[in-house]
Amino acid sequence: MQPLWHEYAGPWALAEAQAAAVAENLRRGVIERGAATLVVSGGNTPRRFLETLARETLPWTQTTITLADERWVPPDHARSNERLLRETLLRGAASAARFVPLYRAAPTPEDSIARIAADLAALPLPFDAVVLGMGTDGHCASLFPGADNLAEAMQADGTQRVLPMRAPAAEEPRVTLTLAALTQARAMYLHIEGAQKRSVLEQALSATAPFTQAPVAEVLRGARTQPHIFHCP
Ligand code: 6PG
Repeated sequence: MQPLWHEYAGPWALAEAQAAAVAENLRRGVIERGAATLVVSGGNTPRRFLETLARETLPWTQTTITLADERWVPPDHARSNERLLRETLLRGAASAARFVPLYRAAPTPEDSIARIAADLAALPLPFDAVVLGMGTDGHCASLFPGADNLAEAMQADGTQRVLPMRAPAAEEPRVTLTLAALTQARAMYLHIEGAQKRSVLEQALSATAPFTQAPVAEVLRGARTQPHIFHCP
C-alpha cells in the first residue's frame, strides 16, 4: 500500500505529532479491546518520540510494549534497545506498561528464540501500532540486506513472528520481528530524519528492486493499513 508522507519542520514537531498519533491508536485499542500493544524501534532516531510518548496520558497498565528488534547485548549495554526504552519511554506513569523484552541472558539469540517466540505468541495480534526506523542501507527492524535469515523473515505468509538475524552491517547478532508480524499492525509508522534517508526511501519505494535490496520498502508495501512516513530535515 502506498505510504502517506507527513513532513515536519524539525525533530520535536515530528516527535509531538507522531506521539499524539500513536497515543490515539493505543487509546482506541484499550477502548475497543481492553488492551493495546505497541512495537517500537531502537537506534538513535526515536529518542525524542519515545520521551514525548511517555508524557501522554494513556491507560498504561493495559498497554504492552515490545521492540521491533534487539541487538544481542545485555540491557545495561550502550547499544541495547531495551536500555533506550528504559531511559526514555518506560518512565513515570508509562513505567506501568508491561514490557516484553526480546533479549534474554544467553550467549546467542538461538539459545532463547523459542522462549521469545512463546512470549510474543501470547500477545494479541495484530499490534495496535508499529513504529519503525530505517538505515541508509534500506533496512528496518533488523531486516538487513544480506542478512542470513532474511528470506525466511520476509515471507508474507510466514508463521514465525521473530527470528535471529546476523548481517555484515550489524555489529552484533540480532533478533527481529518478521515481515508477517509487522505488516499486520493496525497502524504502521516509519520515522526517518534527514535528506539522505528520505532519498534512500524514495528510491526504494520507486524501484522494482527485490526485497533483498530494500526490505523497508517491502514491509511498507505489505502493510495491511496505509503506512505513515514521518519525516523532518
Ligand atoms: C536497531 C533498529 C533499526 C533502526 C535503524 C535506524 O536496533 O538498529 O531498530 O532498525 O531503526 O537502524 O537507526 P538510527 O535511528 O540509529 O539511524
